[in-house]
Amino acid sequence: MRIERNLGMDLVRATEAAALRSGRWMGRGDKVGADQAAVDAMRYALDSVPMNGVVVIGEGEKDEAPMLYTGERVGNGDGPEMDVAVDPVEGTTLLAEGMPGAIAVVAIAERGALYNWQGIAYMDKLAVGERAKGVIDINAPVAYNIRAVARTLGKQIEDVTVVVLDRPRHKDLIRQIRETGARIKLILHGDVSAGVMTAIEAPPADILMGIGGAPEAVITAAALKCLGGEIQCKIWPRNDQERATIAELGLDTTKVYTTKDLVKGENVYVAATGITPGEFLRGTEYFGGGARTHSVVMRSRSGTIRYIDATHRWDKLMRISNMPYG
Ligand code: FBP
Repeated sequence: MRIERNLGMDLVRATEAAALRSGRWMGRGDKVGADQAAVDAMRYALDSVPMNGVVVIGEGEKDEAPMLYTGERVGNGDGPEMDVAVDPVEGTTLLAEGMPGAIAVVAIAERGALYNWQGIAYMDKLAVGERAKGVIDINAPVAYNIRAVARTLGKQIEDVTVVVLDRPRHKDLIRQIRETGARIKLILHGDVSAGVMTAIEAPPADILMGIGGAPEAVITAAALKCLGGEIQCKIWPRNDQERATIAELGLDTTKVYTTKDLVKGENVYVAATGITPGEFLRGTEYFGGGARTHSVVMRSRSGTIRYIDATHRWDKLMRISNMPYG
């Protein structure tokens, strides 16, 4: 039997390219410039991935995003029909401010598999790694979930770490977590990394709780599908206008979206590369004449998780690619 091509190994070149280019914008205070550098590089590199890809989570509608817009076809056209979700910089503020935890990430799955987020901005999220899969319930009280995770991990509640975006909207959630005695890791940005962090080996956090971006929820679900973890989400309208839009779309804010609802497929690949240093991936490091990247490639079917340390030399890269690296 032929071993199927692992598209993740091709995808990682796109996240590496995004990290290599945008890493140079670290701390320059320019979110737009940093994101554009990552988009250009990722767009260019995606063209060599052997697939018929369509961007379903991208940089916005065509009129606002000239590249990696929703509906854009990516890939070299010679391969399977895939949905593509990109976040060339997850944590643009982290990168622009030179703070830890910015990554470049891409997830793909067979056509129609990734949830059509229809422009919904936010979702309430609850995510855990494989060992706590099946014991959480987003409709249950915060304390119930923390206790259930503690029990299944064989931890005392005081040793459970919950990761939460530091936002005023989480004031009550943080109070409830503190009442249980659990540890809290407050993050400024980057709840994709935070969700993934609950499912990696020696996880720096046990549970992700709270409201974050809806597109990020789909990308997190793809990664958790590969890692064997679980995410539950509910649509979270910010105001009456969003409530009205959600009603018009026929969506239900009480519906619980599970990992399977967000990512239906069985052929899911995720690649991510660290831009600034983080707990989950090291940052891109520059040396005279080149740079080093640290990436992860995941594949749902095989469950293989590969960490890739790569050295890139500008002179050689420029000889084989039109992209201005050096
Ligand atoms: P960007 O990379 O698009 O800036 O998103 C960062 C992020 O922190 C996500 O990780 C998270 O899901 C979302 O923003 C939270 O949104 P907000 O900052 O509006 O609370």
